[in-house]
Amino acid sequence: MGLGADEQTQFTVDTSKCIRCGRCVAVCTGMVIEQGEDGLPHMLPFEHFGWRGCWRCEHCLAVCPTGALSIFGKNPEDSLPPAPPETGEYLEQVVANRRSCRRYRDENVDPAIIDRIMAAMQNVPAGGNAQSTEYTVVDDKDRMRQIRDVAYAAMKEAAAHKRYTSSFDDFYYAKMKQSEATVRKGDLLFCGAPHLFVAHVKATGRWAADYAINCNLATAYFELLANAHELGTVIMSYPSDVLCELAPEAREMLGIPADHYMKLIVGFGYPEIPYARGVQKDRRKVHRWTEQSGGQLNLL
Ligand SMILES: Cc1cc2nc3c(=O)[nH]c(=O)nc-3n(C[C@H](O)[C@H](O)[C@H](O)COP(=O)(O)O)c2cc1C
Repeated sequence: MGLGADEQTQFTVDTSKCIRCGRCVAVCTGMVIEQGEDGLPHMLPFEHFGWRGCWRCEHCLAVCPTGALSIFGKNPEDSLPPAPPETGEYLEQVVANRRSCRRYRDENVDPAIIDRIMAAMQNVPAGGNAQSTEYTVVDDKDRMRQIRDVAYAAMKEAAAHKRYTSSFDDFYYAKMKQSEATVRKGDLLFCGAPHLFVAHVKATGRWAADYAINCNLATAYFELLANAHELGTVIMSYPSDVLCELAPEAREMLGIPADHYMKLIVGFGYPEIPYARGVQKDRRKVHRWTEQSGGQLNLL
């Protein structure tokens, strides 16, 4: 039975470094690491990765204070260090300064930046640590233009016959059309973005809803990472609806299987217009339980 053995997870312990603290046992989500009588951790046999065994979360590698543990052939020294204390403040600045960018420079983003973001995207959370979410990136503006031309033509043809996506009607389409004169300069569909990111997945079975949520979560992480790297981004549902409902041939050009869930897509690139400061939105419906409020609605 079982995968289980150390060889399957490539679980190794450097006995000269292990201080036998047991932290790897205490954080093991799959509860498959045991501390032996000699104090050294070892991997128990298990049936399958996931709920019936190792979750591939790598907490064991990450928690080990001396870097004694390796799993899946990963060298602990290759892990990024914890973020420095000032990160909280920086992240607040990123969130206040992230915004939907709807005008882009007609320029490819440096591929090294896209590579960095996609490397970081390996580590985004997913329910049950499911690694089923797939990412599609259009990293060439000419390819993006081809896809846009096909999708745009299909959308325009449908609109000529008063056919719209399920999310749109005459009013919304006219409003978007109007936006091409200013905010969505010449491209109501993809806002002229030179690149596209799409998280998609085959979402079936018991966890189908979670798989779809994983995609949307990945979308949010991508957006934040891209903004942290000073790129402009726009999360979009309308063009995704166009791809899925009106322009299957454009969706095929993205190589996204027809049976995959996709909903939010992210256009990105170098912003055309620099902004001078962050926004100051008032999100009023924040409920916080404090002793004073007794759980009452607090206005920030
Ligand atoms: C789920 C979702 C769908 C969106 N769809 C579109 C879209 O199709 N087209 C678009 O231009 N912006 C779209 N947006 C961007 C929102 O309109 C935008 O986030 C909102 O107006 C707030 O502006 P901000 O992002 O600049 O803070 C979408 C955002 C979200 C979160």
